Formats: sequence, structure tokens, C-alpha cells
Amino acid sequence: MRVAIAYLSYSGNTEETAELIQKKLLSREASVDMHRIGIDAPIHPSNYDVLLLGTFTWANGSTPDEVKDFVLEIGYKPTNIAVFGTGDTQFGYFCGAVDKLVKFYGCKWPGLKIEQSPRGSQESLIDTWLKGVMQHGKRIA
Ligand SMILES: Cc1cc2nc3c(=O)[nH]c(=O)nc-3n(C[C@H](O)[C@H](O)[C@H](O)COP(=O)(O)O)c2cc1C
Repeated sequence: MRVAIAYLSYSGNTEETAELIQKKLLSREASVDMHRIGIDAPIHPSNYDVLLLGTFTWANGSTPDEVKDFVLEIGYKPTNIAVFGTGDTQFGYFCGAVDKLVKFYGCKWPGLKIEQSPRGSQESLIDTWLKGVMQHGKRIA
């Protein structure tokens, strides 16, 4: 299975989540390309079985501009996207950007929402989410 993980991270939580997902996928013998949104050269979702899109959430549940630019750069709504993100429940709309992207792309799998760092008890959320996404990915691959 070919997977791309495209993510945006300022303070490291979403990056840490992306790297954990990468580690888990590599242990299942998937091939994984990491894409840092706003830094790396554009990617083509059609080159992958699954594109995992990761973002943090910005003020009042909004999607960061760099992620919006990434969405525009893709230019269409691929059916092989799943969304994950980190946020903070102290803010008004926890992981609002994840919900917005899931809705926009009409994702077949719910978004993964992590509170700050993914280390510790939240790792099991990643495992469950990834299992579902990969099962779905195999069906559409
Ligand atoms: C100014 C500011 C506004 C934020 N607004 C939200 C928000 O509305 N909803 C949310 O869930 N998290 C919010 N957060 C929390 C971040 O999304 C969270 O810390 C995230 O893990 C940061 O990701 P990163 O470490 O990958 O940059 C906000 C953080 C800052 C600094």
C-alpha cells in the first residue's frame, strides 16, 4: 500500500502525530511519503492509495491558511483522503479544522482528533483510526 502523509505543524504536535502514524504504517510494510505542507514540492493524490492529511486547528476552530492553500493546490476532491489533527479542548471548537476538512472532502472515514501530544493514552486512538482507514484504503486500492 502506498500512503502519503501531508501535514502542517507549528509547534510539533501534528508532526509528532504524523511521525507516529508513519512508524505504524512502516511496521505494516506500507510505503510512506512524508509531505510537509508549505515546504515540500507538490504531491499528487492519485499516486497513492491513501492520502492522510494532518492539521492543527487555529483560532475559533479555523483551518490554517497553509492547509487551505494545499487544498487549492490539489485542485479537486480526491476520494482517497482521510484527515487527522491536533487541537486543544481549552479552545472553543476542538479540532474544528479536522471536521471542516472531513466535510469538504466527504471522507468515508471519520477524522482523528488528538489533544496536543499524541504520546501516551491517545496512541490507541491512532491505532483504531489507522486500522479503519487502511481497511477502507485496501478496498479502494
Ligand atoms: C492562537 C491559537 C488558537 C488556537 N485555536 C484552537 C481552536 O480553535 N481549536 C483547537 O482545537 N485548538 C486550537 N489551538 C490549539 C492548537 O491547535 C494545538 O496546540 C495544536 O496541537 C498545535 O499543533 P502543532 O503543535 O502541530 O502546531 C489554538 C492554538 C493557538 C496558539
